[in-house]
Amino acid sequence: MIGFMDDQAVAERVLEHIAAGTTDRGEEVWREPVANYRCAERLDREVRILRRVPTPFCPSAALPEAGSYLARAAAGTPLLAVRGRDGRVRAFRNACRHRGTPLASGPGCAQSLVCPYHGWTYRLDGRLHHVPHEDGFPGLDKARHSLVPVVAEERLGLVWVTQDAPALHAAPWDGMPELIASEQQLMDSSDAEVDVNWKIYVEGFLEGYHIRSTHRDTFYPYGFDNLTVLERCGPNSRITFPFRRIAKLAEVPAEQRRVDGLLTYVYHLFPNVFVTVLSRHTNLVVLEPLVVDRTRLLLYRLTNRGGGEDAAQLARRDAAFVDRTGAGEDLAIVQAIQRSIGSGANEVFTFGHFESLIVHFHRTLRAALARDEAVSG
Ligand code: FES
Ligand SMILES: [Fe+2]
Repeated sequence: MIGFMDDQAVAERVLEHIAAGTTDRGEEVWREPVANYRCAERLDREVRILRRVPTPFCPSAALPEAGSYLARAAAGTPLLAVRGRDGRVRAFRNACRHRGTPLASGPGCAQSLVCPYHGWTYRLDGRLHHVPHEDGFPGLDKARHSLVPVVAEERLGLVWVTQDAPALHAAPWDGMPELIASEQQLMDSSDAEVDVNWKIYVEGFLEGYHIRSTHRDTFYPYGFDNLTVLERCGPNSRITFPFRRIAKLAEVPAEQRRVDGLLTYVYHLFPNVFVTVLSRHTNLVVLEPLVVDRTRLLLYRLTNRGGGEDAAQLARRDAAFVDRTGAGEDLAIVQAIQRSIGSGANEVFTFGHFESLIVHFHRTLRAALARDEAVSG
């Protein structure tokens, strides 16, 4: 099957699981060497993968108009994404062609990109336009000093960048539904650093086997223990966490079932990005590996589709609840794993049938590493 099930099919699957006391499961047990979370050389190779697959940089909504820009490091490279006068988003290595000063930091909006050091000025499409006291640079060919581009594309409501060729996944959005619609407003963004290997953080999103133990008093009273729908699409995946209140859909004719507010969809965009569609808001979460035991989390919060007038207010309340409760519990667990990872207790971590999307992640990453080695020689 290409792509994910529609909402009705997901609801049907969930109702079947509720009735039967079952859940989606995989067929393979995966053993991942613990050394792969601790080895700096392995992390370097993983970061190379991050530069070689198209990865989401920000929501399209973060660049709403001509001149909107956003600068941040992606896989260790300072990048700058800009929406041009033609409406197209372009991305560049964020370094002036004179002596390398970054042209911008964070989000903003500008008519042109002016280097803060000596004022070299670039158009929104990256062309070098003006050099103060240009007579000091005899023979300077401005056409050869444009900002250095990386591949940027808008897909599924996200801006994707690919830093290095050859790209290891040509079109990871193939078969995927639109994730963020144009009506969804960007409410805010934030970032934080956590003392956790990026893959341990990834794994925390991808199974519902921990719900009762970890979230006993927060999510579990509204959700199920170990009842999830697990789907894959190319390198990506989606896990569905239903709320108990979804059981009332059993009374509704299948084609009239609406799942809004009755489940959470978590999309994993390989390797390091998640889109979580919660009851009242949608998060884009980017995990940027820094070193083997430290990761930067970038969070962009948006209203949901069809949110109406008070969408942002309701979304803020919902987000505050999720942050205050369940997300903190997840963070405490993954940080604790990181602290014990050098204990020598485990040579491998074992992922079972309820953790099949983690297996998919590790298998896809392993394949990408092998392909990267083949193309890099
Ligand atoms: S480094 Fe940018 S103008 Fe000199
Ligand atoms: Fe959790």
